[in-house]
Order: sequence, then structure tokens, then C-alpha cells
Amino acid sequence: MPIKTLAVMVSGTGSNLQMLIDRTKSGDIPATITGVVADRPCRGLERAWDAGIPAKLVERKAFDQFSEFQAAMLVALKDTQAQAVITAGYLSILSKSITEAYPLRMINVHPSLLPAFGGTGCFGSRVHQMVLENGCKITGATVHFVEQEVDCGPIIAQGSIPVYWDDTPDTIAQRLHSLEHVLLGDAVKAFCEGRIHVTGRRVRIQER
Ligand code: GRF
Repeated sequence: MPIKTLAVMVSGTGSNLQMLIDRTKSGDIPATITGVVADRPCRGLERAWDAGIPAKLVERKAFDQFSEFQAAMLVALKDTQAQAVITAGYLSILSKSITEAYPLRMINVHPSLLPAFGGTGCFGSRVHQMVLENGCKITGATVHFVEQEVDCGPIIAQGSIPVYWDDTPDTIAQRLHSLEHVLLGDAVKAFCEGRIHVTGRRVRIQER
């Protein structure tokens, strides 16, 4: 089924969000971003405001209980009236109430070749530090559907880059960002065009 409306969740610089804004506005991805939601003040929120997209901050710190935070986040997502959600650099854990509200309708980008270096605590430069400590010769990015277990949903797309001797977490992150933009953008395009088919854990992207 084609998807016409997207919500995007962010916590950081929002370069993936910017790519989605640019590709939806140009019509390359045939959908509209109807809202952006953040769990902390961040550059991603500013990018949404600059693009004239409704954006809401549901700040983790404002809630005593995680469940109250999740309830407010779900309301914010529902308010966007989006059919699907993209988590693009969103750093908080998502509760079942949220993941189950968007079954096979929530897509995440993770900066490693899952299932390696995924799960709770594996985010941001920590992932790249682990890649270096483990002596990996390649690393990469994964675009996947979100399920309740962190970083475990069906894999839609992956790409890899070499790890060089003089790499640091920062240089890996920089090179991965360009790869992520292409992988996530192309995956979201296929998703919105109704070309993604899931069978068990396996995902097939139908050619156009
Ligand atoms: C990306 O590396 C993504 O894989 C991870 O968070 C980062 C977000 O970058 N989940 P940006 O905020 O889109 O620039």
C-alpha cells in the first residue's frame, strides 16, 4: 500500500531529516512530512521549523515517569496524522505502546551492520568505538523496520564502508552519514511507493 504521509522523530543534527525534507519536497519521495517530533531540543527541530513543517518537542526531562513520556510522544505522533514514522537519529527507547501503533510502519536507520553492534546502549559514536575496538575491517549502516526489541526488526537495506587504520569514531560517523542518506532515502522512497514486501524476517524491494 502506498504511504502518503510521514512523521519523523529526531534527537540530533537531523541530517537524515534534511535529506527526507529535500527528497519529499522535490517529489522524488512521493509523500509529505506532516510532522516532526523530538525528545530534546536539537538542530533537527530547527530544520523542520525552517522547512515550515509542524514540529513538536516532547522533552524526556519534563516527565517523571517513562510511561507518561511515551504516552505524550504517542499523542504527538498521532497528532501528525502520519501513516508511518521514520526514526532518523532518535535516541530514546520506544515503548511497546508506540512500536505497536505502527506495525511495519516505522523505519529506523542504525549506524552499524545489524545484527552487529545493535541493541540497548549501542548508539552514536559508541557504535563506532566498538567497531574499532573489535578490529572490524568493514562497518556500515542498516535501515530496518522497528519492532519492540531494539534494533531487531526486518532489515530493509544495508551498505558498508571500509574501516581504515587511522579512523576514529568521528571519521567513521562522517563517512557513514553520506551512505545513510542514500540508504534511508531510497528505502523510504520504495516504502512510500508500496514496493516493500515483508515475509517473516526477510524484506524484498520490488524493482520499479
Ligand atoms: C545517524 O548516524 C543514525 O544512524 C543514528 O543517528 C544518526 C543521526 O544523524 N541513528 P542525523 O541526526 O540524521 O544527522
